[in-house]
Amino acid sequence: MWSGRFREPLDPRFEAWQRSFPFDVRLLPQEVAASKAHARMIAAAGILSDAELAAMLDGLDRVIPSATEAARSTAGEALSTDAAIVALNPQAEDIHHFVELTLTKLIGDLALKLHTGRSRNEQIATDMRLFVRDAIDETLGGLIEWRKALIEQARVADNSVMPSYTHLQRAEPVLVAHWLLAYVSMLERDFSRLLDCRKRMNLCPLGSGAIAGATLALDRNIAAEALSFEAPTPNSMDATSDRDFAIEFTQALATLGLHISRFAEELTLHSTAEFGFLDLPERFSTGSSAMPQKKNPDLTELIRGKSGRLQGTAITLATILKGLPLAYNKDLQEGQEPVFDAADTISGILAVLPDFTQALRFRLDAMNAAAQKGYLNAMAAATYLTHKGVPFRKAHEKIGQAVRLGLESGRELNELTLDELRGFGDEFEADFFDAVTLEATLDCHDVIGGTARSRVKSAIEDASRRVVSDAAVLASKKSAKLPVERTVSV
Ligand code: ARG
Repeated sequence: MWSGRFREPLDPRFEAWQRSFPFDVRLLPQEVAASKAHARMIAAAGILSDAELAAMLDGLDRVIPSATEAARSTAGEALSTDAAIVALNPQAEDIHHFVELTLTKLIGDLALKLHTGRSRNEQIATDMRLFVRDAIDETLGGLIEWRKALIEQARVADNSVMPSYTHLQRAEPVLVAHWLLAYVSMLERDFSRLLDCRKRMNLCPLGSGAIAGATLALDRNIAAEALSFEAPTPNSMDATSDRDFAIEFTQALATLGLHISRFAEELTLHSTAEFGFLDLPERFSTGSSAMPQKKNPDLTELIRGKSGRLQGTAITLATILKGLPLAYNKDLQEGQEPVFDAADTISGILAVLPDFTQALRFRLDAMNAAAQKGYLNAMAAATYLTHKGVPFRKAHEKIGQAVRLGLESGRELNELTLDELRGFGDEFEADFFDAVTLEATLDCHDVIGGTARSRVKSAIEDASRRVVSDAAVLASKKSAKLPVERTVSV
């Protein structure tokens, strides 16, 4: 690619070590699409005739089939297609070089015109944006599926109750649906974060050149449109060295991973004999080779672990970018693999998580029973006293005394007698017992976002509506993107 200036060949070990082709081979579709967009741009600038453009586009369309066929016929099943393509092309330094080499084999010297007015610096920036945009769309699709599965479980749980926890100590009873919808809220934010990142990154670097802008008067809108970007990027120095889109993507995934791992951790706990809230689906669990009785929560443990890996990719990228002078530096090449890793990791997780969630069978009886023991209605009881005019601090103290009596005599609050209760204050009346039933304890949380049964019922409907409208937003993004590159004619 630069033979003119150099007298000495590259040190072979350095040469092999600095190649990015072994991992950027997966950008082949993006590189071909971006090359076609560039070809259209330089044709419009008079560098290619109509016939040359047609031959170039046709050649570019044949790059993937020809590379794939060569790889399959030599490597058979021994290697993945990508690995075989890399093995067959040891001379290709990176994906950009490879596409040009292959195009030259297919259409001859005309291929050498493709690199007119462009630089690999803008190419890799463009390929990575295209990759991240697709990865965002795939993740958004997975999030929709997982949200639907959680909402469906919330419907199945109906009015079942469970203890909620603060400090991992039983706190107040909540509807199981309310707990599940807490995760739906997190996923709604993850969805909007990724969508937001997609919106900001959807600009086309092509035409930015190596650093200062293309050396030809290119109409950059042509490439932006051909690749379904909103517009060209506004500054060539930024465009060739910016990786914010990758950082934002991995950071959004890190946050999503964090939510996934909290869910995974709760289910892991719930499936223990100590909690007994959940029978893990057998098809998503494993046994122990040593202890015959075991059913292990491998899926939740593994995604808890993989979420750590997602955090790592965001940190890696930020560390690579920190202090990097403008504009392109080879360090940026190191930023590709963390992005691929993050995309693969989340795609693997979301390939199993919605089905796993759907297959969950909660032991709703055990959850209900756990919610009825341990004075989880104490706060509702104190609130009862406040309705009788007792200041909350005092009410807290009186109920605390009642709890103490219950603890000492092995009874719940509703098992104490009215006389005993009146020993703590004459505000206690017979209606106290109605105020501390499980239903009353739930329904007193009758605020927006609270666990009162009617509130949760409408929260389920709201969450369902939002998932439908988010799915429509995603579909509109995808349909705005897909047909373009395929249908634009020569
Ligand atoms: N493989 C390179 C990368 O991923 C492509 C850009 C190379 N540009 C350069 N000036 N050496 O970063």
